[in-house]
Amino acid sequence: MILDGKIVSEKVLTVVKDKVNKMSKKPHLVVILVGDDPASHIYVKNKRIAAEKVGIKSTIIEFPNTIQEQELLNKIKELNANPDVTGILVQMPLPEHIDKNNIINTISPKKDVDGFTPENVGKLTIGMEPYYYPATPQGILMLLDEYNIKLEGADVVVIGRSNIVGKPMCQMLLKRNATVTNCHSYTKDIDNKIKTADIVISAVGKKIVRCKMVKKNSVVVDVGIFKDNNGQLTGDVDFDYVVDSTSYISPVPGGVGPMTIASLMFNASKVY
Ligand code: GUN
Repeated sequence: MILDGKIVSEKVLTVVKDKVNKMSKKPHLVVILVGDDPASHIYVKNKRIAAEKVGIKSTIIEFPNTIQEQELLNKIKELNANPDVTGILVQMPLPEHIDKNNIINTISPKKDVDGFTPENVGKLTIGMEPYYYPATPQGILMLLDEYNIKLEGADVVVIGRSNIVGKPMCQMLLKRNATVTNCHSYTKDIDNKIKTADIVISAVGKKIVRCKMVKKNSVVVDVGIFKDNNGQLTGDVDFDYVVDSTSYISPVPGGVGPMTIASLMFNASKVY
């Protein structure tokens, strides 16, 4: 069966919209976009469209690639202090001359809709409630929960250890009592680890989950999205070859992508 991110994300967005409708003061998300990375521009546009759809006010602040770190830090401090702004998101990646950790560390944890600040990451890691959970792993859990996929006691292989997806995904799965194996570029015999997993979540950005690699009736979640040699959008998983071995699989596009946006809107609707 397909894990249909389009349908489930619409359900989430409807819930968020109903909640926002009842709020007298609407949430206000500010997105900072640095440079001209085409993918980032598309992601930010999709965030703006989703915000509009659910009644969340959104402002996009664009800066050129040449912006200095201090100017960006000043802008974030100004947004932190502005009571009209309830959420701040700095689109990644940033240019190399900017220290992304300095930027993230400056965002107020109560406005950190990405859940990227040390306070929110730390709270997640020690089992306290963070103000926000990172959007992509939260969206993946919303998708799995919608299809009643059991996480408790499940053997889950997470491929990729990024701060945006892999690491928080592992923490959130642990919180749900899954047994988690985090694989990455130095992992030995990744094929065998994938083969024993009840659930595989792949977030690396290249074809890594191939034919005959997954266990019969396993669940496969594909977070990767990139263009193949023919310019077609594709994911980490060789869908056509893997699909028959799975009980559930998420497509690309139409799986995790829309869930990430809906999950971000869920976060952006929170006001502290
Ligand atoms: N770049 C790719 N994914 C994300 C995300 O979830 N948040 C931000 N801020 N940047 C990203």
